[in-house]
Amino acid sequence: MKLTRVLATTLALCSAALSFSATPVYLDESKTLEERVEDALSRMTLEEKIGIIHAQSKFSAPGVPRLGISEIWCTDGPMGVRPEVLWDEWEQAQWTNDSCTAFPSLTCLAATWDPEMAALYGKSIGEEARFRNKAVILGPGVNIYRTPLCGRNFEYMGEDPYLSGKMAIDYVKGVQGNGVAVCVKHFALNNNEINRHTSNPIVDDRTLYEIYLPAFKAAAIDGGAWSFMGGYNLFRGEHASYNPILMNDILKGEWNWDGAVISDWGAVHDTETAVTGGLDMEFGSWTNGLTNGVSNAYDNYWLANPYLNGIKEGKFSEKELDDKVRRVLRLTFRTAMNRNRPWGSMGSDEHRDACRKIGAEGIVLLKNQGNLLPLDPAKVKKIAVIGENAIKMMTVGGGSSSLKARYEVTPLEGLKRRFGKDFDIVYERGYVGDTLGEYNGVKTNQDLRDFRTVEQLTSDAVKAAKEADIVLYFGGLNKSDHQDAEDSDRLSMVLPYGQDELIEAICKANKNTVVVNISGTGVAMPWADKVQAILQAWYLGNETGNAIADVLSGDVNPSGKLPYTYYADLMQCGAHKLGEYPGTPAKDKFGNDIFDIPYNEGIYVGYRFIDKNNLKPTFPFGHGLSYTTFKYGKATVDKTEGVKGDSFTVSVPVTNTGNREGKETVELFISDLKSSVDRPVKELKGFSKVSLAPGETKTVTFSVNEYDLSFFDADKHEWVCEPGDFEALIGASSADIRSKVKFSVR
Ligand code: BGC
Repeated sequence: MKLTRVLATTLALCSAALSFSATPVYLDESKTLEERVEDALSRMTLEEKIGIIHAQSKFSAPGVPRLGISEIWCTDGPMGVRPEVLWDEWEQAQWTNDSCTAFPSLTCLAATWDPEMAALYGKSIGEEARFRNKAVILGPGVNIYRTPLCGRNFEYMGEDPYLSGKMAIDYVKGVQGNGVAVCVKHFALNNNEINRHTSNPIVDDRTLYEIYLPAFKAAAIDGGAWSFMGGYNLFRGEHASYNPILMNDILKGEWNWDGAVISDWGAVHDTETAVTGGLDMEFGSWTNGLTNGVSNAYDNYWLANPYLNGIKEGKFSEKELDDKVRRVLRLTFRTAMNRNRPWGSMGSDEHRDACRKIGAEGIVLLKNQGNLLPLDPAKVKKIAVIGENAIKMMTVGGGSSSLKARYEVTPLEGLKRRFGKDFDIVYERGYVGDTLGEYNGVKTNQDLRDFRTVEQLTSDAVKAAKEADIVLYFGGLNKSDHQDAEDSDRLSMVLPYGQDELIEAICKANKNTVVVNISGTGVAMPWADKVQAILQAWYLGNETGNAIADVLSGDVNPSGKLPYTYYADLMQCGAHKLGEYPGTPAKDKFGNDIFDIPYNEGIYVGYRFIDKNNLKPTFPFGHGLSYTTFKYGKATVDKTEGVKGDSFTVSVPVTNTGNREGKETVELFISDLKSSVDRPVKELKGFSKVSLAPGETKTVTFSVNEYDLSFFDADKHEWVCEPGDFEALIGASSADIRSKVKFSVR
């Protein structure tokens, strides 16, 4: 064994020396990717192979300096390029050239229901990552919104696998067009932040395949993602980052995916399973990178010396290692060593415009009683802006997605810029929430301290409300712990800092109250019936205030729709009503404490649970209003009967019946009218956003294929389309079905 290895190393070194004069195959871009990978692999020593599969710093892996194979530099993601941190620490490197364009949160992107917005987002953020010379951007996140309490919902794309998948595809393509890899995260079942390293979801295969995997599959196969990040959590007792079922059987096996699996930062706990469980690159195992070794802590990573020694001792073969190295080389050649990739750019006017456009397109008008919005200077003179979120910068905080933004326009600034001439705008704080404004050394430099008592703050807000024609209340959540933040979940759906009481008091003082809720997840709205209008705005990045003003003014007609259900309370959510959250104590195979979380609600996540139990949420999945109105005509299908394997074309005319140009997202749900298994009342299988001038009609068409009609049969381990009758339901939301048409498969 030892002699063979010495010979292989000598041969590798000789072949490198011999190829001195001609361009070696691995550097020759006229060769295929696989030829280059095999050539590079054949030249590498065992130590070099081990070298490239683990980190050399907080965010980089070393490549092979001797062969000129580049380092791989990663960066968070997913909503902007993270500022540089120190080599071995999370703390800032204090660079002065790393302020980025902060884009809207991914929930906002999903709320646009527009793959073109996803493409624009991906292209723009990819350009920023490319300019900063990053090979990998750590995003997008496509974990399913299982509970409104999950601290990272704002980094994901909602509750529906179809919507998340469709939006992920174009994000991935947009980023990778820059020669920058996405790293789709967190594969899989990372659905809560509480106990995130020790959560062990208990999920059956059908639920896994129908709910929790499709968005990842879409990103991997249709998007062509070059890398994936494993989650911190476990699945069936094994950590996700090197879970043989998720990584080997599904991702690399069934999906035949050729990319590289990167661990989440500090998600690896054991060499043996990391070797065999399908992990290709290890990052972040010890947070300061120093304390676990004599000379270089990175040599002590699970996939470093322990792996090297294991191979030398004959404990592991080199087969798995070569597979990992091939995947890392592919990633390198596709990104850092791709001579044809564009140059990228940062902070361009185009990125600013993209940020504002995506933000405005994603804002959701939830309610607009009496058409109070858009704001009309003929009717309104004085506006009271109330609430901390009108002045709070939100690009800093929330965990690894925290950014150092080039600038951030707050809602109040945006309103003053847009309406300063039209209206008298007064501001009142109303409540004091999070005054910190710092994350990992990046500071907003806002001083948000306010020493008034709650009573004083409330009475000042009520006074301002009484004296104004209209109140714009800006509240919701922020990026501090137990809100929209990594590593902790929310403690309840209730708005923090006594906002419910404050909103009630404001409503009493002024009936023209508009609530702009800024959050990345659903909150309880017990006052929803008392306010005139509600806008769901997200974390919108640099252009927050401008994008919100665009919608409040009517410069942009709102067209966002909810990517998740707005539950009235937690008992409307299957995970809380039936499932266990946050789990019960158990032990892993090493005897460590973990939490088993039975996903008893199964496939009944979000609107699937609402439909099954006939519940009335505050706002349903897919809901969103416009300043105009749309009429849906009768849905038709190209054939009422077909055979298995056929595609059906469903069409519906949609007319703008108002007097403003607007966009409407038409949603297609499929219902299996009779099935041998329990199926959801309906499932989203298509959507299309159309722009319509007043009076204009367009016909929207959807193609429905066999897969869209299928369920996952766990016993057969395949998707099954059962012959029988189906119904296509065309709706403006999951609770607002406008037309239905039946067809059958024989
Ligand atoms: C997060 C990842 C992130 C990584 C690197 C982890 O804590 O879960 O999403 O990409 O850190 O910052």
